[in-house]
Order: sequence, then C-alpha cells, then structure tokens
Amino acid sequence: MAGSPEESVKRPPTPDQRRGFLARMLALVCGGLATLPPLVAGLWVVLDPLRRQGGAAAFLPVTELPSVPDDGMPRQFTVIDDRVDAWTGFVAEPIGAVYLRRRPGSQQVEALSATCPHAGCFVEIDKAARCFRCPCHNSTFTLDGGIVAPSPSPRAMDSLECRVEPTGGIAVKWQNFLTGVAAKVVKS
Ligand code: FES
Repeated sequence: MAGSPEESVKRPPTPDQRRGFLARMLALVCGGLATLPPLVAGLWVVLDPLRRQGGAAAFLPVTELPSVPDDGMPRQFTVIDDRVDAWTGFVAEPIGAVYLRRRPGSQQVEALSATCPHAGCFVEIDKAARCFRCPCHNSTFTLDGGIVAPSPSPRAMDSLECRVEPTGGIAVKWQNFLTGVAAKVVKS
C-alpha cells in the first residue's frame, strides 16, 4: 500500500543527525591519518635497499694508512658494508675485497678490485713472481693491474677510487663492474 503524501516527502536531517554524520566522518579521517606513519615507515624499510642500490656508490672505510706499507707490494683487504636484514635491521658483512698498494715513499694509496674482470673469480697475489694471478682461467696481471698476455681477461683489473682521510683512515669507493667485456662498466 502506498504511503500518504506526507510520508513520501523527504525531510531534511535534524541537527542531531547532522552532528552524528560529521562525527562519523571525523572519526574516519582521524583513523586514516593514524595509519599513515606506520605505513610510511613500512614503505621506507621495504624501499630502502632499492634506494641504496640505485644511489651513488659510497666510500667505505677499509683500513688505516700504516696497514699499507710503502713497499710497492699490494695488500688485500675485505670490504664490509651494511646489509639490510628484515628482522635485525642493518648487519655488517663482507661484500668484496680490494688490493691496496703504496709505492715507495708515497702517501698515495692505489686500489684495485680483487674481482677478476673475466668471469668474477677472486684474483690472488703471487708475491714471489710479483704479479696477480686468477686461479680460474689463468689470467695474469701486473702489480698495478695491467693485463699480461696471453690472458683470457678482456681488460685490466678494475681500479677503484680511494682516499686517505685526515685521520689516516683509508676509504674506497666500492663498485662492481660487468665481467667478460672489454669496457669497464659499473654494474647497476
Ligand atoms: S675468472 Fe679470472 S681468468 Fe677467468
């Protein structure tokens, strides 16, 4: 049965109804705002490793100047950086190795990546023969990283930027490069 004409007319909301509606909207907005900080923090944790990978390479502290005697013989050092762990935050762990060398009487430090440019094996130093050798496919390099023919490596060992801090600390700009190609191209 159809209602009376008065019943079908829509009545405007009363002041109480309006207040109730506004209170519900306000609660909804406040609830949404409250979830933002944890959401942003979560996103930061998830995206941080990507940001760090894509960003510029960092200078990482490797050792102190007295640990690299000025006798022209390269010394090997482990490069350590923070890895982001989902449960414990940042964990320091080895990410590679470098050879540091000081020529006689020099305060300058030269750095070579210990990663072989041929296929990524670890290059070893042969102190007796005064050269580097890669055990995987017998590439040989001079002490300043130059390639010795015949070697399968398509290029010399990769030099790295290196600086001696005023405190005597040595920092190396750690980068990985593409292997198996003649050009020295930073791995992205
Ligand atoms: S990986 Fe070093 S010679 Fe092949």
